[in-house]
Amino acid sequence: MAQYTIDVTKPLATIHREIYGHFAEHLGRGIYQGIFVGENSPIPNVNGMRCDVVEALRAIRVPVLRWPGGCFADEYHWMDGIGAKEQRKRMINTHWGGVVEDNSFGTHEFFELCRQLDCMAYVNGNGGSGTVQEVSEWGEYMTFDGVSPMTGLRAKNGREKPWRVDWFGVGNENWGCGGNMNPEYYAELYRRYQTYVREYDKNLPIRKVCCGANVDDYEWTEQVLATCFRRTKPEQHGFMDGLSLHYYVHPEGWEVKGSATDFDTECFYRTLYKANFMEELVEKHGAILDKYDPDKHIGLIVDEWGTWYTVEPGTNPGFLYQQNTMRDALVAALTLNIFNKHAARVRMANIAQMVNVLQSVLLTEGDKMIKTPTYHVFDLFKEHQDAQLVESRIETEAIGAGEWTVPDLTESASVSADGTLHVTVANLDPARERSIETTLRGLVPTQVTARLLSGEMHAMNTFSAPDGVTAVPFAGVDCRDNTLRFTLPPCSVASLCIK
Ligand code: AHR
Repeated sequence: MAQYTIDVTKPLATIHREIYGHFAEHLGRGIYQGIFVGENSPIPNVNGMRCDVVEALRAIRVPVLRWPGGCFADEYHWMDGIGAKEQRKRMINTHWGGVVEDNSFGTHEFFELCRQLDCMAYVNGNGGSGTVQEVSEWGEYMTFDGVSPMTGLRAKNGREKPWRVDWFGVGNENWGCGGNMNPEYYAELYRRYQTYVREYDKNLPIRKVCCGANVDDYEWTEQVLATCFRRTKPEQHGFMDGLSLHYYVHPEGWEVKGSATDFDTECFYRTLYKANFMEELVEKHGAILDKYDPDKHIGLIVDEWGTWYTVEPGTNPGFLYQQNTMRDALVAALTLNIFNKHAARVRMANIAQMVNVLQSVLLTEGDKMIKTPTYHVFDLFKEHQDAQLVESRIETEAIGAGEWTVPDLTESASVSADGTLHVTVANLDPARERSIETTLRGLVPTQVTARLLSGEMHAMNTFSAPDGVTAVPFAGVDCRDNTLRFTLPPCSVASLCIK
């Protein structure tokens, strides 16, 4: 039996709700069809947003949404997406399938979506092909509450009051699709662009995100920080509040990637092994940040993460549409537990992407919608949002195939404001159950409720069988004094609420 200890008297860091964030790009059927269908659609909608999708996303408490990209952000010119829809500029989405983008989803629609989701807004500005003036005027358009050319234009387009921008990114992947820049060049550009991200209302701070590294490009992190880190006052963050990191899991590699649904046990383990690499990335990029920012004012913003497979057969290769199985659920549980454990540095994370693109929580087909196994993991983990991470440790053994090994169990624990202890634990073994004995320090429980998501590693939801994989009540927790015993089935994720 694996020994697990949780000490609620040892709080370590706040698990900021933004760690459970999402990302929606103008890519394939991510926004169009997946979220936004327009007011005249026969699909039930409110102001063009699908009711089924919004309801499902509200249920997992999406805390923040990053938009409009991705690579798309660095060719997006925000003025193309405002004003009368029939007059909006049509452009080619060169990155994603070469399709026509009619700009019918723009700034006003994004904030309407955030309103319906009740989430924070993370706007990713154009640092690749856009100008400083565009960035500056977009900020004025979105957030200024006074008389100005941009607020006049906003009012003309139907919105008197400013919106709130919680996070603003200057460019995306500027080492690649966002301009193929060198770190020093980008860092200089960042210094300039971020100057014009004005905070018109000091009570409504806009947190600024600098473009960070691709995977393990530690040189990028070093060089960017060397050029644009600046501490003003101890409590201020200087030029940046966050530095981003992008990491995708491609089981077979970048070229071939691999199928989302057809994989063997070795590939299953290779996927988890690669997902577990996130811990090393967070620690190593974090160690570089520590040299500049030992008090951890600058957040690591993992604003693109998840599995990236070969697209579903018969779908547009540029649309990045993939299915989602219990393997993805385990990737999500493993990754979110890593983020929780490193909450002192990881300030935000955004799974890529919210609907119909890569490791989505929802998939749609016409008027149908399904929740993926990954959705249910976000549902099980949602109580960690804004809770205090507490010290915890679990005994693990290495499992795997050949060199692709991972710990059999992954966990994290937090205490929310009302004193409830929330535990999320996953058994990554696809074949064997695991019994766990949990010792609680500082808490003798009076009430324990638990839920469980489990299934064979290929198990998934489909449009004809939408609820094959779903979280169910878990009655198997035996609670005596301060000890909890339970057995996790193979390939499973559990959440426990302990009062
Ligand atoms: O999420 C898909 C793409 O992956 C994004 O547009 C880009 O930032 C990354 O390479």
